[in-house]
Amino acid sequence: MTEIQRLAEERGVDLNRLPVHVAMIMDGNGRWANRRGIGRLLGHREGYKTLREVLLNCSELGIKFLTVYAFSAENWKRPADEVDGLMRLIEGAARDELRTMHQNNVRVCVAGRRTELPPGLQAALEHGIETTQNNTGITFTLAVNYGGRAEVVDAVKSLVSEHVPVDMIDEAAIGARLYNPDHPEPDLMIRTAGEMRWSNFLLWQGAYCELFVTEKTWPEFDREALIEACLSFQDRTRKFGALAE
Ligand code: IPE
Ligand code: IPE
Ligand code: MG
Repeated sequence: MTEIQRLAEERGVDLNRLPVHVAMIMDGNGRWANRRGIGRLLGHREGYKTLREVLLNCSELGIKFLTVYAFSAENWKRPADEVDGLMRLIEGAARDELRTMHQNNVRVCVAGRRTELPPGLQAALEHGIETTQNNTGITFTLAVNYGGRAEVVDAVKSLVSEHVPVDMIDEAAIGARLYNPDHPEPDLMIRTAGEMRWSNFLLWQGAYCELFVTEKTWPEFDREALIEACLSFQDRTRKFGALAE
């Protein structure tokens, strides 16, 4: 048993009923920085440190899939220096973390329109995916240049280009053409920094996921907050439209 498993159990988490797939909207880096009177990019840098810890904690807790929203398809609307800084940060992280992730048996995946990213970042992501593709530990998906609507549009484009007949188009056919069709739907979606909205994240897959919003900003999201989210998740009755058993 790992340290975080022991801690989670102590707090009342049932390790046999953990969410299989946790998605995270890592929000509030800018506010975290503003409160300290420092630049937004320093907030993003701090957020990167948090992500490193969160990935380790999720993996040691026994979460099988972690998907994090790093850069949305709409985040290009931000000032060029912030966009540029974020791209550099993500590229550096992808390169610097690969060895550790591989050692920890992490399988790296990406969700989003990759071809629109800077070439260096694309290369770093592709190298990460390839290197770790046969790993059997946690599946870590970086959503970068990701939009939920764009993902559905891309799936529809695939259907059309494959000449799929109309009567063969159903939810399974669309689901099979999403960015990572082999991943289960998220069970729990965590958003930091208090905003009660979805911001175009995993619109299709998240149809029935449980939401957990914390006031903590992303750089403040710690082990305790992760355990709190799991506890809250285990308190919910998921019905998927049916009646509770
Ligand atoms: C989330 O933090 C990171 C990204 C969207 C890239 P924000 O940058 O959105 O932080 P706030 O919302 O301005 O505090
Ligand atoms: C969502 O946060 C995107 C990421 C965390 C990458 P935003 O800060 O972009 O969302 P809005 O603009 O507040 O909806
Ligand atoms: Mg934000």
